[in-house]
Amino acid sequence: VTAEKDGYKHFMLKEIFEQPRTIEDTLKGRVFPDEARVYVEEVKIETKFIKDLSKICIIGCGTSYNAGLVAKFLFEKFLRVTVEVDIASEFRYREPVIDNKTLVIVISQSGETADTLAALRLANKKGCQTLAVCNVMESSISREAQHVIYTRCGPEIGVASTKAFTGQLTALYILALDWAAKKESLSKDVLKEYIKELWSIPVKVGDFLKTSDNVKEVAKNFSAKRDFLYLGRHVNFPIALEGALKLKEISYIHAEGYAAGEMKHGPIALIDESMPIVAIAPLGDVYEKILSNISEAKARGAIVIAVASENDKEIKQKSDAQIYVPATSELFSPFITVIPLQLLAYFVAEVLGKDVDQPRNLAKSVTVE
Ligand code: G6P
Repeated sequence: VTAEKDGYKHFMLKEIFEQPRTIEDTLKGRVFPDEARVYVEEVKIETKFIKDLSKICIIGCGTSYNAGLVAKFLFEKFLRVTVEVDIASEFRYREPVIDNKTLVIVISQSGETADTLAALRLANKKGCQTLAVCNVMESSISREAQHVIYTRCGPEIGVASTKAFTGQLTALYILALDWAAKKESLSKDVLKEYIKELWSIPVKVGDFLKTSDNVKEVAKNFSAKRDFLYLGRHVNFPIALEGALKLKEISYIHAEGYAAGEMKHGPIALIDESMPIVAIAPLGDVYEKILSNISEAKARGAIVIAVASENDKEIKQKSDAQIYVPATSELFSPFITVIPLQLLAYFVAEVLGKDVDQPRNLAKSVTVE
């Protein structure tokens, strides 16, 4: 592959900025802004199977696993079906309870991750229906899965995954909506509203990216810290995990992602002014809850960087630094809240002079167990 950086300093930055297009490409032809229908002809899972499904298992590693954690909220909400999410290396060794009424979704950018491939083979052997969310055609995982939906992100070169993650989310939202339509578990009106919102995402991501200098400022102010704590709730708990993962991977700063409500069961003991807290707090049903977690942390001397909705009037008084993102409904917020965290990790690593695209000890695709 001849890949070019198109004037960007690193592939990772280029890939972050490609996201409005890669999300749009993944949507194209599958959903249309004014239609209450989804077209994923490549996935030939029968409606009867969807209706009779006993469980969905979602499997991946690293960033792909985090995308699976977000998807759990969607499938449960839209389909009212049990969803389990597993790290591939755990799934394959824990004698999972799966059978021919189980749908196993494996998520892999490369399609070559050894543990994910082994988990897929196990699911095939146990008689499950298997589906891959994959970015690489003719990869091992896309060949061996019974069904494949491709993310259309193009080659991802930076070791820290960015555009593949939002591509995976896009594909998973599409699948959730498709099956909800088939199962008739969402009304046509709601379906149409969600599809419209999905189509608004690429523009919102593009709008946010225009403000990336603000994230750069925050990164400069905090790059000397040794530890970071990322907090989120509901769909943004996986985003807290993903934000912390990005920072660890490329800046080598210790970072932990935590469910904000769990803070008082451990991490609260660590809080002081030397460990910034990144609080993912877009407006929505759990906003007040995370706000009270922020207050608890601040009462103990924490420095809080808030990722907040642009129309949030309250957050400025409650936090030390703010990164504002375009407003979305809570369910769609992960697309938007993850972008500042990708950029924050990128700019911190850049300030520290780290090898952003090729971090030490990490591989783009882990093809050995
Ligand atoms: C490696 C990469 C990560 C990636 C993970 C899973 O750890 O460095 O960026 O998320 O593998 O890769 P996959 O290709 O299966 O999504």
